[in-house]
Amino acid sequence: MNIYEKLQAIHEKTMTYFNQAKTREELYQFKVQVLGKSGDLTEVMKEMAKLSKEEKPLFGKKVNEVKQSLESAHDLCFEKLKKQEIMAKMEAEYLDLTLPATAQAVGSPHPVYMVMEEIVNILSRLGYSIRLGPSIESDYYNFEALNIPKNHPARDMQDTFFIDDTHVLRTHTSPIQIHSLEKEELPLRIIGTGPVFRCDSDISHLPNFHQIEGMCVDKKISMADLKGTISFFVKEYFGSDLKTRFRPSFFPFTEPSAEVDCQCPLCKGKGCSLCKQTGWIEIGGAGLMNPRVFEAAKIKYPEWTGFAFGFGLERMAVIKYGIPDVRLLPENNLSFLKQF
Ligand code: DAH
Repeated sequence: MNIYEKLQAIHEKTMTYFNQAKTREELYQFKVQVLGKSGDLTEVMKEMAKLSKEEKPLFGKKVNEVKQSLESAHDLCFEKLKKQEIMAKMEAEYLDLTLPATAQAVGSPHPVYMVMEEIVNILSRLGYSIRLGPSIESDYYNFEALNIPKNHPARDMQDTFFIDDTHVLRTHTSPIQIHSLEKEELPLRIIGTGPVFRCDSDISHLPNFHQIEGMCVDKKISMADLKGTISFFVKEYFGSDLKTRFRPSFFPFTEPSAEVDCQCPLCKGKGCSLCKQTGWIEIGGAGLMNPRVFEAAKIKYPEWTGFAFGFGLERMAVIKYGIPDVRLLPENNLSFLKQF
């Protein structure tokens, strides 16, 4: 093979290599092999020494032509491979921006807190504002100040979790009344709400549940004010056509005391399984504030008078939504909770 043929062979072989290269990296390797410092072309150039004076520039020209041809072929292949690689990458990482996004699970308030908020909203329209208190209470706030002395049978009404001899997990939200009466100026309209605890558990009782408590202290408060307030609340919360009734009862912190019933929101008073065919549902307790409570909080009676009432929030949710078992509420089963 003479030097021209060798040059020709390199040209052809390289063109084929370039066209066959599958990646830019491969292409680069071929380029170095031929056009590099110790590449094939350099080797051929070394052989130029053997040529005659006249032939040298002619061959040199040929070499340059081959070089240029190979360089432009290389550049073309380079661009082609670059495009191919980008396309392949795009295909591999394809992202359809028009597809709907994955749904994000968003939290929502627990039904008991929804009920709490709804009741607070209704009562706030009558001028009530919310107060919270500690979950651990002294015996004094939970019992004594509310006219439930030690060894009094009324203590049996509330099965108590004792922390120590003088502290309990509050058994009701009524201690909030005392905190407020001690600290705040009269007249007062407050809602006390939050968790309460009782050593009690069955289909309609939870050891940890929630109450909402209303207290109004003002001049010349009567049972009529109490009944008006609760009737308004029942109509707003359960439905405008439902009546409220009071049955005589006993709570140490109210005198007189009443058990509050509302017409069954499910059957509207006709009788159903929720109201055990009576047409009425008990929603809580209420009464005029016992002078002994005022005495404990150093408030002048009968200059100041008041009423109070207390409802169980889980019970409110059970009645409103027809929940068959109150224990579903604290279970936190999402398929149950998502219905609200
Ligand atoms: N604290 C009572 C209980 O847990 C409920 C109650 C009854 C609250 C009458 C009151 C009230 O404020 O006046 O059983």
